Amino acid sequence: MTSIILYSSNKKIRYISHVIQEKIGADIVEIKDLNKKTGFFSNLKNNYNAIRSKNTPIQPETIDLNVYDLILIGSPSTFGGISPAISTFIDKNSFKNRNIIIFTTTNSHTGYDVLNTMKERIEQKGGNIINTFIMRVNNKDNEQLKINTLKLIKQLDLDLYA
Ligand SMILES: Cc1cc2nc3c(=O)[nH]c(=O)nc-3n(C[C@H](O)[C@H](O)[C@H](O)COP(=O)(O)O)c2cc1C
Repeated sequence: MTSIILYSSNKKIRYISHVIQEKIGADIVEIKDLNKKTGFFSNLKNNYNAIRSKNTPIQPETIDLNVYDLILIGSPSTFGGISPAISTFIDKNSFKNRNIIIFTTTNSHTGYDVLNTMKERIEQKGGNIINTFIMRVNNKDNEQLKINTLKLIKQLDLDLYA
């Protein structure tokens, strides 16, 4: 069984994850950042936490990952780093002997730093990173995102892993 775990601030990773779920079959869990409220000042605080890589209260905090053969974890690139919600999720969960694919979405060409940090921290907690991918999402509508995601699933043979 496959699980897709994601945090999405602006719905792009959420959309991409649902396309993957539909194609390969998976449980999907969206991690909520309980500090993320709408409004200018809340966003400022949230963005500050992202810059500082601070942790944040999340829901759910833990997931029993032992029941999954394959786990996809997706975080938007946030000031060149992991989103606070996924950073917190990595801190609070065990990935021992789990096979994991990590991915990030970006507005630019960057994203490697995000993946490197995620890889390092998940490996420290016993996970095996078996693949990674980056998707550029700027100015792309859902139709384009779907086309790109389906291409990627094919390129990575994601349906064979699942
Ligand atoms: C606070 C904030 C910081 C961001 N920082 C970056 C960044 O450093 N590099 C980048 O390519 N995109 C950056 N972005 C764009 C997001 O990565 C992009 O909108 C996101 O991947 C879309 O995923 P989502 O809609 O699921 O949140 C940032 C967006 C926000 C809101």
